[in-house]
Amino acid sequence: MVSYVNYKNAPVKYTGQIRIYDEEAFIGMRKIGRIAAECLDALVDIVKPGVTTQEIDDFVFAFGADRDALPADLNYRGYTKSCCTSINHVVCHGIPENKQLHAGDIVNVDVTFIKDGWHGDTSRMYPVGPIKRASERLLEVTHESLMRGIAAVKPGATVGDIGAAIQRYAESERCSVVRDFCGHGVGLIFHDAPNILHYGNPGEGPELREGMIFTIEPMINLGKPGVKILNDGWTAVTRDRSLSAQYEHTMAVTKDGCEIFTLSQNNTYYVPVTHS
Ligand code: MF3
Ligand code: CO
Ligand code: CO
Repeated sequence: MVSYVNYKNAPVKYTGQIRIYDEEAFIGMRKIGRIAAECLDALVDIVKPGVTTQEIDDFVFAFGADRDALPADLNYRGYTKSCCTSINHVVCHGIPENKQLHAGDIVNVDVTFIKDGWHGDTSRMYPVGPIKRASERLLEVTHESLMRGIAAVKPGATVGDIGAAIQRYAESERCSVVRDFCGHGVGLIFHDAPNILHYGNPGEGPELREGMIFTIEPMINLGKPGVKILNDGWTAVTRDRSLSAQYEHTMAVTKDGCEIFTLSQNNTYYVPVTHS
């Protein structure tokens, strides 16, 4: 059975319990969430045709270092980069490398920074130069899927309400929801309880309570939902090689809804795109 615990009464390691955070935590999460969001804001001017994903990774590391924030990805379960860069049919956990981006690509950059123990986890899509209308539509549907999931967050709702809102919308747009990865509790722990599934039924799963902090990060495909992991042990791709997109926010449940910690500070979050 699911149980809840005041975060000050639990060890700082995964226990399966759902941590309930307080105002002191919210202050730390606002600070690191803003840094993560500002990093993604700054990347709008960097993610262009010809840039390599390694250069993006270098930028993310330096951005954090300048602000005394450490990338949580670095050395996480053997991962050796500071962010994930997932291009086109890559669903998530693409590894930065010395390979250029090309006009027409869509790429997700996913960053998590740590400051004073608090983790801010967020990702968004970047169109590389002009992109096709079909690609743009996938970005729109995926961003809207995230926002519909967020709109379901309030005390008394359940994790299933979030997943159902996302699945209902994405499938109504003839897209599919990846099942193999989910959102997660976050705060003092990078990947904590509960799992936030991006599909499901209203009323199912753990109840949302004020003070919970978690991510919602739907991966939406133009084709079928199936994924496979490449031999590097990280890169997840669509089995049918269809395009995949993802947006992610870190948020907390508040008295009457939620507070998003990773909102864009200059309204570039929903990246305007140009057509080819
Ligand atoms: N940031 C990812 C998430 O949203 C996790 C990346 S773990 C890494 O949960 F090791 F691949 F970096
Ligand atoms: Co996450
Ligand atoms: Co992330």
